Amino acid sequence: MNTSIAVIGGTGRVGRLVTRKLLDRGESVRVVGRSARRAEYHLPPRAQFFLGDVREPESLRSPLQGCSAVVYTVEPGTDTTGPDSPRSTLHGGVVNTLDALRRGEFGPAQFILVSQRHVTRRDHPMNAYGRMLDWRLAGENAVRASGLPYTVIRPGWLTDRTELADSGQVHLEQGDRRDGYVALQDVAEACVQALYCPSAQGLTFEMRGGAGSPPGDWEQLFAGLRADEPFAEQVVA
Ligand SMILES: NC(=O)c1ccc[n+]([C@@H]2O[C@H](COP(=O)([O-])OP(=O)(O)OC[C@H]3O[C@@H](n4cnc5c(N)ncnc54)[C@H](OP(=O)(O)O)[C@@H]3O)[C@@H](O)[C@H]2O)c1
Repeated sequence: MNTSIAVIGGTGRVGRLVTRKLLDRGESVRVVGRSARRAEYHLPPRAQFFLGDVREPESLRSPLQGCSAVVYTVEPGTDTTGPDSPRSTLHGGVVNTLDALRRGEFGPAQFILVSQRHVTRRDHPMNAYGRMLDWRLAGENAVRASGLPYTVIRPGWLTDRTELADSGQVHLEQGDRRDGYVALQDVAEACVQALYCPSAQGLTFEMRGGAGSPPGDWEQLFAGLRADEPFAEQVVA
């Protein structure tokens, strides 16, 4: 890609891996986060760091200016209300990011959203934390309705690959019915592959690790999934 790719949450566990993978591909990468110290500690010098907070729309203007794509891997707070609630980051932050991209001058930017499995299951215990699942689903729906090219990735429980005894293969699933762990490394790879594979556009899917060989052909993996209905909100399953 000739322009920059922004990784919002790029100092976090998944975001750092995405950033390194993109830099290895020769991309210009802008990492957006709230801590310059964290950036200094975690990021390679080739990554450009921008102070930004998804809850503050003005802070996103300059980092997203001219970006052709965004990977959004922000971890929410868990307060019921207020600035550290899932509402503020998982919905408000996504909407602020979409607004900033719409103001961009390089045409429609691609949006890769890291969400989570169980997002359509309101009665899941995770929803007790500031209605985290409801607000994640609202953020997903905003992306799906945005008109921008997008991919929504719903990982299961994140873990390091070395802690997954039988990991290697990656299962991409839809319907939000199952459970499972997935390696951070595989989620990061899915984010990167989604940027390059046309068949990933307009997809929402869950990810789970399993025994077997790592995927060789992501384009084919994505192509085996069902595209989202245009502009249709997903609802509680
Ligand atoms: N843990 C799991 O098992 C699990 C399962 C499924 C999905 N997920 C989701 O996967 C995503 C990535 O997870 P992770 O483990 O990589 O998260 P992480 O290591 O906690 O990183 C989160 C990133 O979000 C940034 N961030 C938080 N609030 C922000 C704000 N208001 N504005 C800008 N940046 C902000 C953080 O940077 P600063 O704090 O420096 O701003 C950090 O870079 C998250 O959405 C997570 O909820 C997690």
